[in-house]
Amino acid sequence: MMNYVIGLDLGTHYTRIWKPEEGIVLRCPTAAAIDSRTHHVVALGSEACRMIGKTPEHILAYRPVAEGLITDFEVASRMVTGFFDAKRLCTLFRRPAVIVAAPYYLDQVHQLAVENAVLEAGARSVAIIPGIYAAAAGERLDVRSPRAHLILSVGGGVAEAAVISSGNVIHAKTLRVAGDRLNMAIVSYLKNRYRLLIGESAAEALKLKLGTADPKLDRGQMVVRGRNAISKLAESRAVDARDICEAMTPAIDAVARLAESVVQEAPHELERELYGMGIMLTGGSALLPGLGKALSQKTGMRVVVSQNPQDAVIQGLGRIASHPELMGEPLTFRRR
Ligand SMILES: Nc1ncnc2c1ncn2[C@@H]1O[C@H](COP(=O)(O)OP(=O)(O)OP(=O)(O)O)[C@@H](O)[C@H]1O
Ligand SMILES: [Mg+2]
Repeated sequence: MMNYVIGLDLGTHYTRIWKPEEGIVLRCPTAAAIDSRTHHVVALGSEACRMIGKTPEHILAYRPVAEGLITDFEVASRMVTGFFDAKRLCTLFRRPAVIVAAPYYLDQVHQLAVENAVLEAGARSVAIIPGIYAAAAGERLDVRSPRAHLILSVGGGVAEAAVISSGNVIHAKTLRVAGDRLNMAIVSYLKNRYRLLIGESAAEALKLKLGTADPKLDRGQMVVRGRNAISKLAESRAVDARDICEAMTPAIDAVARLAESVVQEAPHELERELYGMGIMLTGGSALLPGLGKALSQKTGMRVVVSQNPQDAVIQGLGRIASHPELMGEPLTFRRR
């Protein structure tokens, strides 16, 4: 029988699945609602997202991944099962081997959580690889070449920077500063500057509409509704793109320092090569206008921004599933 290998990217915000012949078959918010009495899945993906915070006591509606790690095993495992079932990935006669992307530094507890969630969903076997390596393969960097590449991914929950060469991650670092942190920075900025309290989803909307990492890029204004921090009364005010840019600047500085430090800590011989190659910027937050330019100014390195940054990891998992030789060392699969 032909090898049946699928890819799974369990992101903080989105789960994506790749399957042979068909490519990306699922792109869904990482969320599930479970009935705690029957352990049945009540809702998955977007529908479950809408239920968060609004469910009766016996329904657990969560986003089970935070900062790239499974934080609620029960919900995560039911969710993966639900996604596999919805796409009929496991049948009585055919169970897939699954390649899963995960943050580079994964402790044993989180590693087991990922493996067990996938095996419980019916997989035949599971292998974990660094998501940042998959992203590099997805961006079609020549990961097997002895030349060193620098890749920076800024997703929803984590930013990761890595030096990749000869089929391996040479050095990598993870920072819990990404899309969610940008939203939190917007929330606290508006609170401190205008005494305006808004929620995280309003901050996300502001970021998408007005957000820019380039102070010269003016994206106008937007009226946002919140509460006054002192009187607690409802209040609306027009927020400027410049406010959003200023709010996000410290987080963007931190991402720039992450990339710089990975270069500085990599073997010395590679430093010049890396400066020559520049940074490949990917992950959903790479869609923030001006981010490539800002990071280039802050690091002094050339930055290439991905064309399709949200799918880099899953595309890479698909490439690795079809061409295992893209990995410097053979994958080790754990079986049920
Ligand atoms: N146009 C945009 N401007 C700014 N941010 C954006 C834009 N589009 C998407 N994002 C951000 O991208 C993030 C999602 O990216 P992505 O899908 O790579 O995350 P993820 O894989 O679920 O998370 P992670 O890899 O961190 O676990 C969200 O925080 C979202 O706000
Ligand atoms: Mg991701």
